Amino acid sequence: MTLSLWTHCQAATMQPQAVLPYGLIADAALVLDGPLLRWVGPRRELPPDLARACGTQHGAGGALITPGLIDCHTHLVYGGDRAAEFEQRLHGASYEDIARQGGGIASTVRATRQASAEQLSASASTRLRALLADGVTTVEIKSGYGLALEPERRCLEVARALERSHPVSVRTTFLGAHALPPEFAGRSDDYIDAVLAMLPLLHAQGLVDAVDVFCERIGFSLAQTATIFAAARALGLPVKLHAEQLSDSGGAQLAAGFGALSCDHLEWLSADGAAAMAAAGSVAVLLPGAFYFLRETRLPPIDLLRQHGVAMAVSTDCNPGSSPCTSLLLMLNMACTLFRLTPEEALAGVTRHAAQALGLRDRGVLAAGMRADLAVWDLEQPAQLAYSFGVRPLRQVVFAGVPQ
Ligand code: NIG
Ligand code: FE
Repeated sequence: MTLSLWTHCQAATMQPQAVLPYGLIADAALVLDGPLLRWVGPRRELPPDLARACGTQHGAGGALITPGLIDCHTHLVYGGDRAAEFEQRLHGASYEDIARQGGGIASTVRATRQASAEQLSASASTRLRALLADGVTTVEIKSGYGLALEPERRCLEVARALERSHPVSVRTTFLGAHALPPEFAGRSDDYIDAVLAMLPLLHAQGLVDAVDVFCERIGFSLAQTATIFAAARALGLPVKLHAEQLSDSGGAQLAAGFGALSCDHLEWLSADGAAAMAAAGSVAVLLPGAFYFLRETRLPPIDLLRQHGVAMAVSTDCNPGSSPCTSLLLMLNMACTLFRLTPEEALAGVTRHAAQALGLRDRGVLAAGMRADLAVWDLEQPAQLAYSFGVRPLRQVVFAGVPQ
């Protein structure tokens, strides 16, 4: 018998059409059928024959159950750290100054190229375990600190392997166009050619689920971004974009034209950019950790995104330079305190909308037919997830139907 029943819980289903906020069901029952949810609803409506068919019964003791959380934008695999750069910034240097002087992303590239797969895996695993302790069951991991075929491959292989050693789904994103590696200094178009050569090789190895570009003054131009995106789409791969983080370069409109799954950061997003994202159904991935850590002052235009009905996701952006953060729950809090999202919007941002940002239709809400990825919390109401910080209220995770 593969059916199991969870009761004595409230469920924040996050179903979009629900009547109550959070799709909340006060006295809920969930029937799990192997790795999938068979039935979700009020316990009093559970069909008796279905209840009888459940071999295992779990009383959740009044816990709150949400979909397993989804961190849809991370750079989890890298070598070294950038604490020294943090100190430099505290002595007055800016993030862009440091990048222009060969520090920043380039310094992590040096450390990543020197690291073995085992070293990369060990440090990424430490960070991943912290995310899992916050109820994460799906994580996106970008490459982009190798910037040459072999180290990019190594990072993507390490990312894939994390899925085999931890209770988590990993989605990989090839971010070859993250920064210009030193050997291509002054020849950024040549480097774009190199990225175009890497992409089909890595894709043929099954290492690429999506393609991303850092489109920015200190990254790559609109034209270069378009070249990479055209190649990705020709391979049938979806695209995402680091867009309008430090300036409004029109990246969101460009990405929307390629049907981007998401545009990420977006502090400088224009009204035209928001309209283009709405038309394309691209998700706005908000990264309050980077905003906080870089001490940005320009807020992403949340009201504009709301007006246009653009779905908003929230993520850690876990990376050594702009967001050395491994707590998705802290990002929920910061999305509310810094960006003024409501706690319900923030929770949708790490569940339903984060799934959408990854092109995943089988998770992010609790409903029949969806994956049985659950986070079980010692909490009384869903707003508490965003309210406190530094607290670890997770009681248990169920991953693909298996209690961990
Ligand atoms: O998402 N914006 C570009 N990439 C990262 C930062 C990378 C780094 O500084 O190492 C980001 O913020
Ligand atoms: Fe990022």
